[in-house]
Amino acid sequence: MDKAIKSPPAVVGSADETVLWMPDGSPHSPRFKDRYRSRAGGLAQATSVFLTGTGLPAVWRGRERFSVLETGFGLGLNFLCTWAAWEADPQRCESLQYASVEAFPVTGADLVRSARTACPENHPDSPIASRLPVLAAQLAQVWRGLSPGIHQWSFAGGCVQLTLAVGEVQAALQDLDCQADAVYLDGFSPALNPQMWSAETLHLVAQLCRPGTTLATYTVAASVRERLRQLGFRVEKCPGLPPKRDRLQAVFWP
Ligand SMILES: C[S@@+](CC[C@H](N)C(=O)[O-])C[C@H]1O[C@@H](n2cnc3c(N)ncnc32)[C@H](O)[C@@H]1O
Repeated sequence: MDKAIKSPPAVVGSADETVLWMPDGSPHSPRFKDRYRSRAGGLAQATSVFLTGTGLPAVWRGRERFSVLETGFGLGLNFLCTWAAWEADPQRCESLQYASVEAFPVTGADLVRSARTACPENHPDSPIASRLPVLAAQLAQVWRGLSPGIHQWSFAGGCVQLTLAVGEVQAALQDLDCQADAVYLDGFSPALNPQMWSAETLHLVAQLCRPGTTLATYTVAASVRERLRQLGFRVEKCPGLPPKRDRLQAVFWP
C-alpha cells in the first residue's frame, strides 16, 4: 500500500534543507512533498499527539533522568515543546535527554521561524508557547557543522541534553547509544516516506526501548500498527488532532 518515493539524493548533514513556507505559514518539504506538521499547528501536534501520547509530563515525574527518542528531528519543534514542557513542570525529572535522527537538517533560520509560527496565537496563556521562540534561538546558536554523525549539545545548565544523529535513519539509529523512556515517531507520512516506518527502522527503534517505554505518533497506518505489534508494542488508536480522526499510542511490552 505504501507508495515508494525515489530514494532522496544522499546529501546529508549540510543544514541547508529547503523548507517551503506556505501562504498559511505552515512549513512544507519539497523533497518529500509533505507538510512538516499538522494543519492544526506544531504546538498543538507536539502536545496532543506526542507528549500526551507518551504520557508526558506525568511519566517523567519522580525520575532522576528521562530519555526521549525521536525519528525525524525536522524543525525541532517536538524537541522545543518537550523542553518547554519540562521547564514549566515543577515536578520535572532532573535531567532530560533527547535523542533524534535527521538526514536533511534545515537551516537555523528555519528552526527559529518554525518556533515563531507554531500557533502561539492560539495559546496565549500557554507557558510552552511563550518559551518556544526563546528556546529556538538557543538551539539556533549551536546549530552548525552538522556533518554526518553524532552531535551533542547541553541546555538549561546541562539539565537538557540533545543528541542528534545526522544520517539516514537506520544508520543514525545504530549510532545512538540510548535507552528510551518515550518514543516519538515523526517521519513524513508513511506513504511518502516509507524508510522512516519500515520494519527494519521500527526494529532498530524497539532495540532502544525498555519494557514500559511509551510511544506516540500521528499516523495509524495499518502497516505501522502491525509492525509495532510484531515487535512487542501494545498499540492503541486514540482520537486524533483534527483533521486527523485518530492518533496512535503504544507501550513496549516485549
Ligand atoms: C515530519 S518531519 C519531522 C518534524 C519534527 N519532528 C519537528 O518537530 O519539527 C520528518 C523529518 O524526517 C526526516 N527524514 C525523512 N526521511 C529520513 C530518513 N530516511 N532518514 C533520516 N531522516 C529522515 C525529514 O528530513 C524530516 O525532517
